[in-house]
Amino acid sequence: MYQWKDEYVLGIEEIDNQHRRLIEIANQIYAIMQDQWRTDKYNQILEVLTELKDYTVYHFKAEEEYMAKIGYKKRFSHALEHSAFIAKLNAVDLSEIDESQDKYLLELLGVITDWVVKHIMTTDRLYTQ
Ligand SMILES: [Fe+2]
Repeated sequence: MYQWKDEYVLGIEEIDNQHRRLIEIANQIYAIMQDQWRTDKYNQILEVLTELKDYTVYHFKAEEEYMAKIGYKKRFSHALEHSAFIAKLNAVDLSEIDESQDKYLLELLGVITDWVVKHIMTTDRLYTQ
């Protein structure tokens, strides 16, 4: 289970709520991984991966609009980090998922939580200063 922490709060309500949602999606992935009763999780994985991608695209767009609105100078390099993360999600090889699903879920969780938390704590924090 991933807990939202107070230290993640940036003080911009819209963005904070979207970050909360990303943590929720991480928890959805965690729940699929923990589900011992289902042997084939392919459809669940596909569904949550699509949701993650769609929501991430939506959130990054909102964040980039916010940075443009406040005239944040480093918004272009920040947006590059966003594109790199989307590329990472798009590079997922679906045939590999079928091989070892729980291993894949664990990897996906690592990628999201690592990246999202690091990104929120460092890169995102810069535009609030
Ligand atoms: Fe960001």
